[in-house]
Amino acid sequence: MANTSMDVISSLCKRRGFIYHSSEIYGGINGFWDYGPFGCEMKRNIKNAWWEFTVRTREDVVGLDATIIMHPSIWKASGHLSTFSDPMCTCRSCKKLMRADQVADIFTDGECGKSLAEVVKDGVDAAKVAGWCKGKAKGIAKTLAAVADADKLTAAFNAMKADPAKYADLYALYTLLAAPETEGYRACPYCGGELTEPRPFNLMFKTVVGPVDDPDNVAYLRPETAQAIFAEFTNILNSSRVSVPFGIAQMGKSFRNEVTPRNYTFRSREFEQMELEFFIKPDEAVELVCGHVVTMKDNPDLSTPAKDWGWEVWHKYWVEQRKAWIHRCGLPAASFTEYWQKPDELAHYARACVDIEYQFPFGLQELEGIAARSDYDLTQHQIHSGQSMEVFDADVKAAAAALDDAAKAAFTEKVVADWTARGKDPEKAKKFLASLFEGRYIPHVIEPSAGVDRMMLALLCNAYEEQKLTDNKGKDDSRVVMHFSPVVAPVKVGVFPIVKNKPDVYEKAREIYKDLRKRVSAFWDESGQIGRRYRRQDEIGTPWCITVDFQTLEDGTFTVRDRDTMQQTRMTLPEFKAMMEEALLM
Ligand code: GAP
Repeated sequence: MANTSMDVISSLCKRRGFIYHSSEIYGGINGFWDYGPFGCEMKRNIKNAWWEFTVRTREDVVGLDATIIMHPSIWKASGHLSTFSDPMCTCRSCKKLMRADQVADIFTDGECGKSLAEVVKDGVDAAKVAGWCKGKAKGIAKTLAAVADADKLTAAFNAMKADPAKYADLYALYTLLAAPETEGYRACPYCGGELTEPRPFNLMFKTVVGPVDDPDNVAYLRPETAQAIFAEFTNILNSSRVSVPFGIAQMGKSFRNEVTPRNYTFRSREFEQMELEFFIKPDEAVELVCGHVVTMKDNPDLSTPAKDWGWEVWHKYWVEQRKAWIHRCGLPAASFTEYWQKPDELAHYARACVDIEYQFPFGLQELEGIAARSDYDLTQHQIHSGQSMEVFDADVKAAAAALDDAAKAAFTEKVVADWTARGKDPEKAKKFLASLFEGRYIPHVIEPSAGVDRMMLALLCNAYEEQKLTDNKGKDDSRVVMHFSPVVAPVKVGVFPIVKNKPDVYEKAREIYKDLRKRVSAFWDESGQIGRRYRRQDEIGTPWCITVDFQTLEDGTFTVRDRDTMQQTRMTLPEFKAMMEEALLM
């Protein structure tokens, strides 16, 4: 549930073996998380669901499993070496580093920010703020100028009295208390000291390949899985029976030296991505072959891809596919939204980019992105590697050959005008057309890029519920229940013998448990009252619990208790398996 606090979620995750802080016995390491027994099952389920949906059940997508460390030139070609950075600043007093664009948020989330927010919750009252500076702030913000120096406090007091509305923004008020006489002062959110100007900080982790620690041997841990797909594009094209349009999918670890990892696992330094590069014909090739290009204005049916789709339709198709997958994994459609990046937010090569955003307890934040990246990435690798990234398309060549000179000239004129209107070099348009008429082009790409950890965090937040109940004697009761969809639930079924001291019942239950474990993750529990066993499974989100009793020995049926409704139904093993299989279909 979106209004559950992250503290509640993270404490359940630790207590029940979903997620632990990495290296906790040594005090932990910021931005790194370990997935415990139930966490790693759930993560695996998310990845399997993605692979099933994106690769296995489609004829037009193949997989890749590339290395984490690749040739450093890949990161030069992709632009990561020069531009994959965050603006970072340092406090001249306490020396802490932070992302320049997160300073105000770090302050608001910190002890000092929370304490000051309480003082001004009904508006900025100069006397109350001054009281805070002379009292509580002495313990938590003693380096703040207005706390340490009476003259500075007087200056800040006068400024607040003169124009309280100017300091309605909490960070603006804090800045005033840090340096009442300096306009534009950038106050450290931890101590009030002065921050340096923001400087770009490259987010890639460096390492050294081979025994010599030399700049020539520097390599990088990949910051995304996508680049390996572009680097292996021609190998896959030449060794698989694929032709454009088709996709290459990869999932695996990525690493980013995030300046301020925040919000539990949301922004980690080591995380997993699930990325698809779906290669399509440039619109000009579609037009040659089909005589027209379908755009979103044509209101196309997005359920089945068609030959005449242009990039815009493919992009929207993948937005819909990704939403369908997220929904299938258990997030209600109303809990996530599409954010279409505005033209000035797009990378220069991108034609569109949609963020799927989820309402996390700490705000509406990006879950994943779907970008239309034109032919930028393959072109960059062609330039930097010297190897052609063009495909040969016999249909395009045949369609071009069928045009007479006048039709070719008219087509050329139209394409050059279109490229020029989009600010592209007309000479490049002519070069592109010369190749295109020979049936050769660099494919364009649609990139749905998702984070495993972020998806898991959204599923954890969505699933959590504390329910007030009344037991069968009318007494108040409660339970914590994780409403995971069966597809992602770490344990699919709990199996319990009703009693453990009756060998026939016990053995029958073991038999059923062992049978189910061949297909899904099942949990055996023989201790405590049945009600307590249910509660333990509710807390880890097990959709069904089977209780084997004396009747099982007679007619083969057992009770199946549904986690969400708490209803119990008698079923045979084949009936239960059929019901479960249907619920697990992607
Ligand atoms: N190849 C495109 C790409 O990497 P991105 O928006 O930087 O795009 C894609 O990352 C997805 O990867 C994000 O939407 C998010 O789900 C996940 N992700 C990115 N940085 C992350 C981090 N520091 N921690 C956890 N997940 C992250």
